[in-house]
Amino acid sequence: MSSNLGRSMLRRSLLLAGTGLALTPRLQFSPAHADASVASGNIRITVAPGRARLVGPDGPETEVWAYDGIVPGRVVRLRQGEPARVVVENQLDEDTTVHWHGIRLPNAMDGVPGLTQPPIRPGETFVYEFTPPDAGTFWYHPHANSLQQLGRGLAGAVIVEERRPVAVDRDVLWLLSDWRLTSKAQIAAGFGNAMEAAMAGRIGSTVTLNGAVSNEQPARAGERLRLRLVNGALARIMALRIEGHRPVIVAIDGQPCTPHEPEGGQILLGPAMRVDVMLDMQGEPGRSYAIVDDFYDGHSYVLTKLVYGDEPRLHRQPLGATLELPRNPLPVSDFSIAERHELALEGGMMGGMRRGMAGMRGGMMGGGPSWAINGMSMTGDGHAGMEPALTFQRGRSVVLTLRNDTAWWHPMHFHGHSFLLLRRNGMPVPRRQWQDTVLMAPRDVVEVAFVADNPGDWMLHCHVMDHQMAGMMTVLRVA
Ligand code: C2O
Ligand code: CU
Repeated sequence: MSSNLGRSMLRRSLLLAGTGLALTPRLQFSPAHADASVASGNIRITVAPGRARLVGPDGPETEVWAYDGIVPGRVVRLRQGEPARVVVENQLDEDTTVHWHGIRLPNAMDGVPGLTQPPIRPGETFVYEFTPPDAGTFWYHPHANSLQQLGRGLAGAVIVEERRPVAVDRDVLWLLSDWRLTSKAQIAAGFGNAMEAAMAGRIGSTVTLNGAVSNEQPARAGERLRLRLVNGALARIMALRIEGHRPVIVAIDGQPCTPHEPEGGQILLGPAMRVDVMLDMQGEPGRSYAIVDDFYDGHSYVLTKLVYGDEPRLHRQPLGATLELPRNPLPVSDFSIAERHELALEGGMMGGMRRGMAGMRGGMMGGGPSWAINGMSMTGDGHAGMEPALTFQRGRSVVLTLRNDTAWWHPMHFHGHSFLLLRRNGMPVPRRQWQDTVLMAPRDVVEVAFVADNPGDWMLHCHVMDHQMAGMMTVLRVA
């Protein structure tokens, strides 16, 4: 375990304490199984232990927990505005739930144990029924024992299809996961390490693309891809650069945004975030181009390579059609007259709590809460009796200031709503951009706006799972 404690934390370097960031050697090309999707209507998902070849076809199998025996779980394909029914059967030895991350659904379907539903006990089933209002890229994962259950493989994508298909040559999903593996490719113990929980969280050693390390992904000159990126990691932030290409971001967290090229050519993806890019394959037939993640200084690695076949260019010119996706029916209002509230994120190593900490129910292995929101630490995954930090009358428009008073990055996620990003550090966000998870750098202050139109008690928490478990969670009530 190397001690990186002395390094500056205000840079984006950092504390990967105890994590060897060396990646396991790339093995062979691993075909994505991303199209093993289940269609709208009646869906059944079984949660159980399983095995997966994370490190490639010749590597050892890893013991995982899986949805329907595969990692990640099958893509759940739904249609915008059409009812979905998903029966989840729990064959684990412990409670679970499923949270449909980013989907604006009724509170009782939100999958937070104690708060929105009783946990699904071993051997039991639970039926999730909802009608997704928004098209886009979402994902599902447990909200019970989240650090371990997500860390052992329970995650899958949800694609809600637009009413009219978007014109691209290929629609491709990459669900990226980060695993801490032993030399025998087994999931390393030590979930909930208190030191890590107070720093960057459990960053792993091996990043997989659709459930396996990836050497290459096929490409054809001239085609246009819609590439749906999902960061399903526990803690790892990613900044992806695609050599020789100019991706255009068209949606963030499932919500169409003003199309734009990423700043500095880097697609920034905090844990739980999704970014859809339009990617025109402008490379040369027969060549290959690396996709590099260089978020952490000194720890960049090649996620995969785009390998062009020898076929001739598909279109003579790049597709001219507009890149803009059809908008979703998000509630808007005049946010200049909205009610305003502030939430301060506190704690962590070298952070210091602004006020005293009022802890609610511990539950961390070897340590009390490390984090708080407005002086209050809610730990774990959700449970009954959580008192809301803020209550909004239904239909009110709200501007929320989130202030990161810590020395660490936090992807802050709000359930049941999407919010419009208004400002970051005082600067207006120059485009229309709705999200359900906002990545905050150390000391960042962001202003987000939404209409509190979805009644119920909704979680707001950091999606670095160790941070959530160790107190960076709260509840907002829409009455
Ligand atoms: Cu994706 Cu409360 O989480
Ligand atoms: Cu955090």
